[in-house]
Amino acid sequence: MAVKKKMIPLIGLGTWELKGQECIDVVSEALELGYRHIDTALSYENHPYIAKALPLVPRDEIFLSTKIHLEDIDFNNVKASVFTLCHRCLNELKVEYLDLLIIQAPDHELPMEKVIFAMERLRDQGKVRYIGVSNFTVHHMMDLLRHEAYFAFNQVEFHPYLNQKMLLEFCAMNHIQLIAYRPLGKSRILTDPVIEFLAKKYQKSQAQIVLRWLLEKKVPAIPKATSKKHLKENLELYDFSLTAEDMILMDALNRNIRYCMSDFAEFGY
Ligand SMILES: NC(=O)c1ccc[n+]([C@@H]2O[C@H](COP(=O)([O-])OP(=O)(O)OC[C@H]3O[C@@H](n4cnc5c(N)ncnc54)[C@H](OP(=O)(O)O)[C@@H]3O)[C@@H](O)[C@H]2O)c1
Repeated sequence: MAVKKKMIPLIGLGTWELKGQECIDVVSEALELGYRHIDTALSYENHPYIAKALPLVPRDEIFLSTKIHLEDIDFNNVKASVFTLCHRCLNELKVEYLDLLIIQAPDHELPMEKVIFAMERLRDQGKVRYIGVSNFTVHHMMDLLRHEAYFAFNQVEFHPYLNQKMLLEFCAMNHIQLIAYRPLGKSRILTDPVIEFLAKKYQKSQAQIVLRWLLEKKVPAIPKATSKKHLKENLELYDFSLTAEDMILMDALNRNIRYCMSDFAEFGY
């Protein structure tokens, strides 16, 4: 199948916790506003709602990413179960291919490279354009690379309180692109005095300052927003840039704070 070459958009829409009519409405609104990256997961149970909004835009303009869990894979029959999960995603989303299929969280005790090898077969068949992982530490990534199991993206929590310096450097050296999830720290970081100060200085919202900081680092982000105001604001990032001094101020906010539950993945591995 010929698929037009496309890059991952720098701003996408996260859809965790969006379901039902609200999900259809938010994804439709986002597509109308110009969003072209939609992020979901089998575990979000919202594929059928996203499927209803997707036809608003030609399929080859959208970068569609979804995720599967290792716990749903039968490690006695990896290829068949990865194929089954991928086809479930395709059927629920009513699309012929996924732009990005992601392993949602690692488990270093499992032979995760076998999952990547199965995903490579799906890529050969044109069902998946890129292979990704999520919540992988440097050690998890090294384990895969040692097995010559390659992937293009690692989606991780990334915001000014968790600036992922080491991961970013490792990924840059290994041609892996990080994607920032929870980029606004579930909006909990937006009242930080430095972010508020910069918002006033640039006459932008706090969220725009944070997203622009990610853009300056060339890290695609997938903020979730439900209101039209937030959806629109999160796209309006291209009429200003942060100075080198202000980037240093933002970088100094790092506190290694995660808003994801610590038992969700092997963050300490
Ligand atoms: N791979 C993984 O394991 C993983 C884990 C967590 C999340 N994710 C992905 O990352 C996406 C984003 O993360 P998240 O939803 O947890 O958190 P987030 O994007 O950091 O924050 C979402 C919150 O920020 C608010 N917000 C959005 N735009 C805003 C703006 N311009 N000004 C003020 N507030 C704003 C939203 O409010 P409104 O809704 O009211 O607009 C919502 O309450 C998820 O939806 C999911 O797709 C992936």
